[in-house]
Amino acid sequence: MSGMNRRDFLKQVTALAALSQLPGLPAAVAQIEKDEDLLALLRELGKHEEMTVYRADPLNAGSPLEPLRATLETPADIFYLRNHAPVPALDADSWRLEVDGLVERPLSLSLADLQRDFPRHEQVATLQCAGFRRQEMLNEENAWGALLWCSDAIGNGRWGGVRLRDVLEAAGVQAEAKHLAALGLDEIEEGRVTFGFGGSIPLDKALGEEILLADELNGAPLPAAHGWPLRLVAPGYIGARSVKWLGRLTLQAGESDNYYQQRAYKVFPPDVDTDMTATGAGEPLGDLVVNSVFITPAADAELAAGPQFLRGIAIASQPLVMVELSLDGGESWQEAGLSGAGRWSWRFWEAEVDLTPGDYELVVRARDQAGNIQPPTVEEIWNFKGYMTNHWQRRSIRVV
Ligand code: MTE
Repeated sequence: MSGMNRRDFLKQVTALAALSQLPGLPAAVAQIEKDEDLLALLRELGKHEEMTVYRADPLNAGSPLEPLRATLETPADIFYLRNHAPVPALDADSWRLEVDGLVERPLSLSLADLQRDFPRHEQVATLQCAGFRRQEMLNEENAWGALLWCSDAIGNGRWGGVRLRDVLEAAGVQAEAKHLAALGLDEIEEGRVTFGFGGSIPLDKALGEEILLADELNGAPLPAAHGWPLRLVAPGYIGARSVKWLGRLTLQAGESDNYYQQRAYKVFPPDVDTDMTATGAGEPLGDLVVNSVFITPAADAELAAGPQFLRGIAIASQPLVMVELSLDGGESWQEAGLSGAGRWSWRFWEAEVDLTPGDYELVVRARDQAGNIQPPTVEEIWNFKGYMTNHWQRRSIRVV
């Protein structure tokens, strides 16, 4: 471990853990004040002015939490935005999807070809950024410039389009193909090079019926900010694999060599710090992890004694089976009710509790069908990139 011995490191982790459990973490650390220019940009991209902006250029914004929990299908104007470069201006007539690599017949498809030649499907699926809840793992001092998302980098869409597997079958998959690499048409500048955002998913996953090439969100044309004219939707995987503004799909023997597969969106053990990023080490992230969060009450809320509803959101990449709630810091648990259906959709959880006056530490945790359960503390999952934060979420409230 460079520059820090194990004991110092553990001290730091413990300090971070304490920080993450402080009642009333700022609602949005590093949130940007919205001036007229920013409000105009939000409007231009079809975004609600209540979005929490973490970066203005390119626009990165989280959903307002209470509206996010209001409908199982997230409206497009509050759907979180994670962009590594400005939204590209694409031309509908000249745009093509190239399908190449280890295929029998390379394809070059217009939007009209895709819409005419392949059966249409809808898939309800949650997108969640790997940085979801990062502000409960990192803080402004050690976030290395990363966006300090709270529970707002998540949304549940009704995506419409064609199945990736139908397009791959039309191209003919060669036996040596093991991964599907997707490349976006945005222009990201890293150092002196400019390239499109990309990533890959294993071929087995790519052939799943849940994987869509989507040109619609919630029954309307895909908004420009969310990848128009076409994006990949890879349910169950971190949002980074759902490449927007698709330009090229390549079947290949190995993973994508794109920066966002090989360098970013990798998880490192807790004893690794920034020095390791340059080496390309670490494990590429794929599956989402089981997770649950509070939406109401807000942190540090003061509630009236009597019956109260506690509400939140839960997800998993395996089917979710249970959300549990504790009113006493994790000593005892009760099961919350779940709503929402569909293999790739989030669930809303809700519990009605009768509260007497006092201070409470509420805790929520979820469990999936494979037996995965959220870890109690951040130490077990800490990584310097702040990915996949999924320890029990705690919330201090006062009942009067
Ligand atoms: N695709 C392209 N081309 N460029 C991007 O910056 N961001 C990725 C993914 N696809 C990204 C992309 C990340 S990290 C996430 S979490 C999701 O898109 C976010 O999708 P959304 O902005 O539609 O919510």
